[in-house]
Amino acid sequence: MIDISSKDVFDVMFTTRAMRRLKPDPVPDDLVLKILKAGMSAANGGNMQTWRFLVVKDIEIKKKVQVIYKKAYDEWISPRYSSISPPPGSTKEGYHRQHTAVEYLTDHFHEAPIWIVACIDHGESKPTRHSGASIYPAVQNMLLAARALGLGATLTNRHLYFEEESEKALGLPKGVHSYAIIPIGYPIGNFGPVGRGNIGEFVFLDKLDNPWGPAQS
Ligand SMILES: Cc1cc2nc3c(=O)[nH]c(=O)nc-3n(C[C@H](O)[C@H](O)[C@H](O)COP(=O)(O)O)c2cc1C
Repeated sequence: MIDISSKDVFDVMFTTRAMRRLKPDPVPDDLVLKILKAGMSAANGGNMQTWRFLVVKDIEIKKKVQVIYKKAYDEWISPRYSSISPPPGSTKEGYHRQHTAVEYLTDHFHEAPIWIVACIDHGESKPTRHSGASIYPAVQNMLLAARALGLGATLTNRHLYFEEESEKALGLPKGVHSYAIIPIGYPIGNFGPVGRGNIGEFVFLDKLDNPWGPAQS
């Protein structure tokens, strides 16, 4: 029986934020292995394990993808930023800080010592609306594992604005598609609590116009 304190699990969940500022210091392979094992412990449809995890350390591959990731920022993310209101649970200042961090990661994407590219081998079939359901649980497990190990990580998928181009740069074979790139490294800043809206705004009982009673904050 493994002794796990539920406090530890909840502490990890409540402090697993997007950590976008990372040191270039190498991450030992045994930690990367632990993160991958956490990913592979996730639920997946029919336990078919069509997932593929590409660990990328090669700076030339990362640089090629960073150019595409930045292009998506310049063409899509940056122009929209000024017209978007702060999300629930955030302030104007908080949202501005988030955007500054997003910009930082965009410029330094390739400098993260490790990327894990979470993919699915679709073979001859076409990805559908359920496809991501068999890889994002693994992605979230890996984010939690990285946090538990004191490593910073972020779920990113902006490269998909230019899907074909970025998957070519990643060298993915035919039929294999990427769903997330997780840059991982030792964080420059500190971990802090996740900021979300009030539970009362998002949780309902039986009907979506009936806020769930116990939901206070
Ligand atoms: C589907 C998805 C795609 C995301 N893509 C990116 C991305 O490309 N770049 C990025 O910096 N963050 C990305 N994020 C991270 C979110 O911006 C982040 O989770 C959100 O701002 C909340 O931040 P927090 O976890 O620090 O509270 C993505 C998150 C999700 C769930």
